[in-house]
Amino acid sequence: MKSVRTTCYRHLNPVLVKSTRALSRVRLFEMALDLCMTKLFPNIGIPVLESVRSTGSMEGDWDTRAKVDALIAATAEADEKSTEASAIKALETRILKGVELDGGVAVLEIGCGIGNLLKPLSALAKEVHGVDISGEMLRLATERLRDCSNVFLHKTDGHLEMLQDNHFDLVYSSGVFIHFPSKLLVYEYFKEVVRVLKPGGIFRFHVDGRYYLRWRRRKGGTLRGVVFNPEELRDNLGKFGFRIKEITGSNSLDMWTTAILNES
Ligand SMILES: C[S@@+](CC[C@H](N)C(=O)[O-])C[C@H]1O[C@@H](n2cnc3c(N)ncnc32)[C@H](O)[C@@H]1O
Repeated sequence: MKSVRTTCYRHLNPVLVKSTRALSRVRLFEMALDLCMTKLFPNIGIPVLESVRSTGSMEGDWDTRAKVDALIAATAEADEKSTEASAIKALETRILKGVELDGGVAVLEIGCGIGNLLKPLSALAKEVHGVDISGEMLRLATERLRDCSNVFLHKTDGHLEMLQDNHFDLVYSSGVFIHFPSKLLVYEYFKEVVRVLKPGGIFRFHVDGRYYLRWRRRKGGTLRGVVFNPEELRDNLGKFGFRIKEITGSNSLDMWTTAILNES
């Protein structure tokens, strides 16, 4: 029974995502839908047809989502083939856009999920590390990446103490901070990234930039997280010693920041 529901959901999900995105182009509709989902149905999301209850615990909620349907929860894709294709596209168009990797570099992903992005990246870098709060996601990532000898996976509680100082050339995070219930948890990662990144290294990350969803400015859930505006990101990153290279996609779910760690 579960597998029938899961199969239906996997095929229905891309249609749901596409139609919600299309309808969300009308901002008032998007606001009404988000308010309704946030306040009335905070558990409806991924996977919508399964009875997943958000408890507010990031670790517990992501473990549950990973157990119900890790592919959908981590990548929102229906099958392995489209998951791999989406990873390659994400690397080209987002994560590595304008970034030169010389093959000798060390890269870190915050919130690596099932390792979808780490897999193709492992062919381009010397060392690839992924941290995640969910043990279940990491278990699946370990299985998927068992042939990639330069990939290292770590369980985190929101910190990076298992990683060396001054070690990484690039730290990135995609589809993770958009699910954070509080901004302080995001800023905690900023502080950690300062330590593990080499001076001059790149920090590229994704947040929800729909600041007009005002009910999510201070507090969010583990699915629909807090929203940011470019000014607060600039202020905070500046305080931590980053120079902002670029912020794209403000006012959208896909707001991306590229920051460089100052040399001194
Ligand atoms: C939507 S998935 C994205 C996975 C991956 N970045 C990708 O694009 O394939 C979100 C991931 O973030 C992880 N996550 C959530 N909160 C986290 C936290 N505080 N620290 C690290 N990882 C976290 C979840 O366990 C989950 O694996």
